[in-house]
Order: sequence, then structure tokens, then C-alpha cells
Amino acid sequence: MCGIFGCLCEGAPSILLQGLKRLEYRGYDSVGIALINGKDLVVEKNKGKIDEFISGLDEARLKGEIGVGHTRWATHGAPSKENAHPHLDCSKRIAVVHNGVLENFLQIKEELVRRGHTFSSRTDSEVIPHLIEEYMNEGLTLKDALIKSMERVKGSAAIAVISTVEPNKIFCYRRESPLIVGIGDNGVFCASDIPAIMPYTRRVMVVPEDRLVILERGSIHVEDLKGVTYETEFTEITWDLELAEKGGYPHFMIKEIFEQPRAIRDTLKIPTVFLDKAARLMRGRIYLIGSGTSYHACLSTSYTASALIDMEMRPVISSEFADALLSLEDSTVIAVSQSGETADTLNAVKHAKSKGARIVGITNTLGSSITTLSDAYICTQSGPEIGVAATKTFLTQLVALDLLLLRLGLISGKLSEPEHDLITKELSNLPGMVEQILSRSNRVKDLALKYSTKENAFFLGRGANVATALEGALKLKEISYIHAEGYPAGESKHGPISLVEPNFLCVFIAPRDRTRDRIIGNIMEMKARGAEVFSVITEGDKELKEISDEYFEVPISSEILYPILCTVPLQLLAYYAATFRGFDPDKPRNLAKSVTVL
Ligand code: F6R
Repeated sequence: MCGIFGCLCEGAPSILLQGLKRLEYRGYDSVGIALINGKDLVVEKNKGKIDEFISGLDEARLKGEIGVGHTRWATHGAPSKENAHPHLDCSKRIAVVHNGVLENFLQIKEELVRRGHTFSSRTDSEVIPHLIEEYMNEGLTLKDALIKSMERVKGSAAIAVISTVEPNKIFCYRRESPLIVGIGDNGVFCASDIPAIMPYTRRVMVVPEDRLVILERGSIHVEDLKGVTYETEFTEITWDLELAEKGGYPHFMIKEIFEQPRAIRDTLKIPTVFLDKAARLMRGRIYLIGSGTSYHACLSTSYTASALIDMEMRPVISSEFADALLSLEDSTVIAVSQSGETADTLNAVKHAKSKGARIVGITNTLGSSITTLSDAYICTQSGPEIGVAATKTFLTQLVALDLLLLRLGLISGKLSEPEHDLITKELSNLPGMVEQILSRSNRVKDLALKYSTKENAFFLGRGANVATALEGALKLKEISYIHAEGYPAGESKHGPISLVEPNFLCVFIAPRDRTRDRIIGNIMEMKARGAEVFSVITEGDKELKEISDEYFEVPISSEILYPILCTVPLQLLAYYAATFRGFDPDKPRNLAKSVTVL
């Protein structure tokens, strides 16, 4: 996920920088701008946050009334000045900013290099200006070259292009990644989202899929790649800016919960080369380490590894790793951390490395400390997570780990190709299933209202869903301050059950998997003591509906998907309970997004 911004107006340099500041939540590892000043293209870019970038700029150099800019969240190529956008062609006449992921860039890049193009970055995006240049060298106009280029590249792309060849226009195109254009009294604008252009105009159009948009002073022209022209349909924005930054949601946490289908879809596209590199390192003893929610992803995956590929992987909480005095000779440590900066996990990684362990990093932050310490890393594709409580990053960690297990299964011969393909196909259904759950969020909202007066809750599950139970309890306690404990359901009778009295809330994770029949026994034990039972169950499970006081149904799926699906209603429960109790779910007390102390 990245942010793009473009403007055609007086004072373009400062408006460009202000626009990028409002897009910083979409990416903040590097930033860059390009402006057309007479016959020249002025380009400034660098690694780091936008404020550092602005303070290092020579403002006298920044002139012009047409410009494009970019805030980057690295996917291909680590954060660096070279990899920052805008990217240019060889003749430095065309500047492109891009948000998305190009799937066939390697093949196109090889071809262009053979034809004499010189690349200066490791990004997928840089193929776009060179491809446009290549087609222009064949005699096409800028517009036709751009159209041909976008027909050629596969994958998602929202782009804005300026060129000294046609210095009065910004060319935009949109496929899958978001793009908004707007027109105001003082100029025309394009951006990845509405808030970036709201201070300049409230007349905006969400660019439809697969459309080319040409911005000129006072006009916006829309056509498709075949040259058919469309009317520009503007909407008047009536929300306030704060709400708009959250995409219309009242909090980042709920926005991020609703972003999960997209985040999973993008994570499912992690290139096989990264997965295979990591899978080939996974020999000897295998440890999965993480903190908090990331540890829950490790615990869940340890069950999936045994069930799916018959491999034992030991989950260990990062802060306990060194003290556990584990045997690290011939071992692989899979370090899971959304931020890639958690001190406990970094410390455990350094300890493991010092003892000779191989490190596979799984983070949501390319260029973070864990990625640099890892022998192989996999980047989940959640995009930046602003809410302190991890939601979309947890789901994408589980997906990335499932993908890794699948490749490992194939490479080690534990899975046949048809088995691998079957599970891959099931994974591809996940975004739709999560969407289906989210479409029934009101049901969870009602339950959250009912439970928001509780002071205690148990979350109970078996197998991989012990991790789901721990995660559900962590979410509820950290943002709603209801005391919640996650426990293996079978273990609850060895002590915790003594707390249960009439109306004590017990949340059961009870999908139709190998543990279901035994979970029913645990529900009956709790009910016999007067507990109020809320169960997350598989669609149509009559028996569980009958014995539970309340239930939420998740779609029928294969066993390995249930921890992902069952987590979603628990995230919603925590979110709504926090809001009903009057707390800000984005900023729970005493917590920070990235815990960089031991
Ligand atoms: C809980 C939560 C934390 C983090 C933990 C590890 O909602 O967000 O428990 O999961 O601090 O953070 P990362 O994954 O960045 O290492």
C-alpha cells in the first residue's frame, strides 16, 4: 500500500507536500515528488518520513504548477532513495508514481534491459516509465504509449504520470488500487484517497476500474483503454476531514478489520520465490517465535504444521525464548512480528543467530530490523496498521504462514501437488468468506452491547483454536478493559472453572473441526454452572445453536481456515464492546503500537 498525489494548480510544490502528509498513513518508509518546471523535470526523493524529507529540501529548487508525489510502503525493494518514487525513464522526460503490485515486472524488465534501458531501482514500478519510453521510441504518443504499457503490465496499479513531452497534463490510470480525482476553483487533483484532496475541493470522482483520466487546467477527461470517452461524474463530499481519513469509519481499528479481505487477497499473492527461499531454510528443529498477537499466529501455525504437513514446530513466546535454553544447533527460527521492531522478538532473533540458527522473518514492514536480520523474509501485505490492536496483520500472518507450510510441504514431499493445489484453492476463497462474516457485523454489535456490562469472560477453544481463544481474549481485554482469559477448553476444568457462576460469560470457539464433539462437553460443563455461552460455530450446526445462549456462524470451510474465520467475530466483539464502554479502541491505555523495550 502506498499513497499517490498529483496536482495542477498554483503553489503546486507546497500543496503536493501537504497532500503527501495526509497520505502518510498509507506508507512512510520513503517519499518523493516530481514537478514540471518549464522544460525540466525536477525530482526530489528520499528514504524516511515526510517531515525529515521536507526539512532536507531546497525549497528554491521547487517550482512549477504540475506535480506528482508518493509515500511508499515497500513491497519490492527495501526502503531507499533509489527505490523511492517517482521513477523516471532513461531520458528523464517521464515521471511515474505507482501504488500497487505488478506481477510480470521481472519479465518486462529483462526485455527492456535487453533493449538498452538502464534501471536504477529494484522496484516493480520502474518498468512503467521505461515501457512508456520504449513505446514512444516506436512512435506512439505519450497517451497511446501509456495505454499500451498498462495493457502490458499485469497486477494492480493506480498511477499518475507527468512528462515534459506534454507538460500541461497529468495522466492517471486505475486498476484495482484506489484513485480519486477532484476539481476545485484553484486546480485539479488526483490522490489515493479523498482526505488528501479535501482541503482543495469537495467535488471528487472515484476513478472507475480500468479507466484512463487526463487532468488539465480546469478539466478532467475520462476514457477507457479503447478510447471510449465517459462522462465525469462528480460527488460532493459532505463528511468532515477526520472521518474521511479513516475512510468514513469512526476508528482505524474497525477500518482495518473491514480491510481484511483486501489484505488477505494481497497476501495470497506473495511471490512463490520468497516462500520457497524461506521453506528451503526450514530444516532441523523449527521454532516459531513472536509476542502478543504474533505469538498467537505462531501457536496456531504449530497445530496447522502437524495437521497439514506432519511437521513439528515449537511455538515460543519471544521474551521467554533465550531463558528456555533451547537447543539451537541445526535449527530454524521463524520470527513473526508485524512491526519487525518488537524488542523481545529482536532479542530472541539475535540470541538464536548467535547460536547458529537460521532465521526466517515474517513481518508487515519491509526494511524493519527483523527483515535485515533474517536469512529469508516474507512480507505480509496488510498495508500500514494504525490501530494499536493488531487485526488485519494477524490474519495475514496466518495466511502467510499457511502459504509457507504449503510450499514446505511440497518441497519436502509431505504434500502431493494435487493436495497442495486443493488447499491453495481453499485459501483463495478466504477473502469472500471474511467479507461474508463482515456483512453480518451488526449481529456481533448487538451481542457486544449485551456483553459490554460484563466484568469477566473466558474464551475457550481446542486445537489450533486455543490460539483463536487467546487472541479473542487479548483483543477484548486490551481495548474494552473487560477482564478476559483465553484457555484450552479441556484445561478449564482444572482450575479456572471455579470462577464460573451464573451469568459468567464463556465464549467458545466451536467450529466443525476434529475438536467439535469434545467442545460440546466443555460447553455443557460451563452451562451446568450457569455460564452464559456465546459460541462461534460453523454455519448450520444445529446442535451447537441449541446448546448455546447466543451464537455466530462462520462459513463452512476446511479445518485450517477456521482459526482465521473465527477470529473475525471476536475482533468485532472487542471493538464494539470497547466503543459501548466509551473507550477509544485505537489508543488503549499503557500500550504502544511497537514495543521497543525489553
Ligand atoms: C495486540 C498487539 C500486540 C502485538 C505485540 C507484538 O493486539 O498488537 O500484542 O501483537 O506487541 O507486536 P509485533 O507483531 O509488531 O511484534
